[in-house]
Amino acid sequence: METNKQSGKSIKRSGIPREEIFISSKVWIQDASYEKTMKSFEKTLNNLQTNYLDLYLIHMPYGDYHGSWRAMEELYNAGKIKVIGVCNFEANRLVDLILTHNIVPAVDQIEMHPFWQEKDLRSVMEHYDIKTMAWAPFAEGMNGIFKNETLQSIGSKYGKTPAQVILRWLNQNEIIAIPKSVHLERIQQNFDIDDFELTDEDMIQIEHMDQEKPAILNIHDLNEVYRLHGITFEQ
Ligand SMILES: NC(=O)c1ccc[n+]([C@@H]2O[C@H](COP(=O)([O-])OP(=O)(O)OC[C@H]3O[C@@H](n4cnc5c(N)ncnc54)[C@H](OP(=O)(O)O)[C@@H]3O)[C@@H](O)[C@H]2O)c1
Repeated sequence: METNKQSGKSIKRSGIPREEIFISSKVWIQDASYEKTMKSFEKTLNNLQTNYLDLYLIHMPYGDYHGSWRAMEELYNAGKIKVIGVCNFEANRLVDLILTHNIVPAVDQIEMHPFWQEKDLRSVMEHYDIKTMAWAPFAEGMNGIFKNETLQSIGSKYGKTPAQVILRWLNQNEIIAIPKSVHLERIQQNFDIDDFELTDEDMIQIEHMDQEKPAILNIHDLNEVYRLHGITFEQ
């Protein structure tokens, strides 16, 4: 790590100024509780060679996540984290968290794509001014999403792929999407969504694709609770 002589800010060896890199991490279930989150945060800073995080999220509403939130509020107030939020919190857990503590989560990162649009949860989030961050915006490729006829037909009007139509639809709904690809051309394609606009009719057609159930993570399934509690990460 070098230091920029003018700003005094640290620079990664890649040459990308540190302030241009968005640094985000999550608290996993094994680190739920005030004390464990505090420790885990320090380890995360150390692992990432940074002295702050842009975004810190609770990964699942399991274990002592209220303790984690108290730690995160403290770290936020101390200026060590710029934004704090949660993942996979349904409306009841979200409102319980809000009513128990002082800081409202800035984001809830949830499974969201055309097949699972989370309309009820999103209206609660809107009420509390919480941003939706869509994980698996392509439903991880399930249900033939990249060959879906509705998405293909909408995309063909603009010379765009189903993936781009989905990202544009999320964007027009003011939802942050975090698509994943290991292919450079797809990563570039996924950024290239600013030169077209979906009509109201396009938006409604995509709304009609909602199957009103998750395609990937059913957090009501007891097996998921056992499975997720069983996963631990070494730091
Ligand atoms: N908070 C949580 O609980 C949670 C849970 C799951 C995931 N996530 C996060 O959400 C992010 C994305 O989710 P995800 O990876 O699960 O699902 P996703 O983004 O919906 O789907 C990824 C799949 O789509 C393919 N793909 C990407 N861009 C494409 C394009 N333009 N055309 C065709 N195929 C394309 C990828 O293939 P290639 O890679 O082969 O291109 C990959 O198979 C990740 O950062 C992940 O860590 C969060």
